[in-house]
Amino acid sequence: MQNWTIQKLLNWITGYFTDKAIDSPRLSAELLLAFVLQMKRIELYTNFDKPVAKEQLNHLHDLVKRAGENEPVAYLTGRAKFYSLELDITPDCMIPRPETELLVEHAIEILRARTGNQFVCDLCTGCGCIAIAIARNYPNADIIATDISDAALSFAVKNVEKHQLKDRIKLLSGDLFEPITPQLEAHQFDLITCNPPYVSEIEFEKLEKNVRDYEPATALLAGADGLDIHRKISQQVCSYLKADGILILEIGYEQGQAVRDLLEQAGCFRQISIKKDIQKHNRVIIAER
Ligand SMILES: C[S@@+](CC[C@H](N)C(=O)[O-])C[C@H]1O[C@@H](n2cnc3c(N)ncnc32)[C@H](O)[C@@H]1O
Repeated sequence: MQNWTIQKLLNWITGYFTDKAIDSPRLSAELLLAFVLQMKRIELYTNFDKPVAKEQLNHLHDLVKRAGENEPVAYLTGRAKFYSLELDITPDCMIPRPETELLVEHAIEILRARTGNQFVCDLCTGCGCIAIAIARNYPNADIIATDISDAALSFAVKNVEKHQLKDRIKLLSGDLFEPITPQLEAHQFDLITCNPPYVSEIEFEKLEKNVRDYEPATALLAGADGLDIHRKISQQVCSYLKADGILILEIGYEQGQAVRDLLEQAGCFRQISIKKDIQKHNRVIIAER
């Protein structure tokens, strides 16, 4: 019987994922192997010749098969990285995307240009990634984060605890601003962030299998034109922003003009700008009151 070492397994799984056209085959292989062996990825390389026990091989075999059928590696391991932070996730939460780090970068830059303690609201928080990344990188912010999915919020609770931010991030369940009532300590914010669902019905049918069949539809779909949530936020946002408050939203790369129009109709913004991601796609819109 073949003696499966870490090196042999890494090479075999990488080849298998390449044949199956799985994204980032080497990285996916490393993540699964590190998860099963309970090692850091770097430790795989310092233990290249170590043989892997039969029980672990069986576990790995099951996960590799599922990944080969397009089940996302992040759901198989229950972990995702965002803004260099490790987060726990389940299939009830959308997997945080590297593109969303652009929104966080702008949010932190905006906060650093302001003085005093800042009140931030993160709508559609999912696993809490944006709120947590802001809180970890900007110490003078108190954050309220909301989501309509209690299942996703239960993971946001775990992640907030994991990153020791319980005293700075309050998580509330409900439709956008609905849980933010005047009784709360802050009901008007210096900064409102949101990465809402923004996929249209037609785009949804064309999504890659690993997204459409595995990620929660409530995190992706936003009506016939993909703008239902941007529309709703634009209608409500002015009463939740301070007189000099700022809104920052993620957008689909073809939605820039449509969302700009919605925010202009909101009637409270003096400046609206669109930022591009590294692929030169419109990705973030910033509206200043
Ligand atoms: C695109 S995901 C973003 C998750 C996370 N903020 C991120 O950037 O990865 C959208 C999130 O919005 C939530 N959501 C959808 N409709 C909502 C609504 N009407 N009010 C609040 N949250 C909503 C979904 O449950 C999902 O967690």
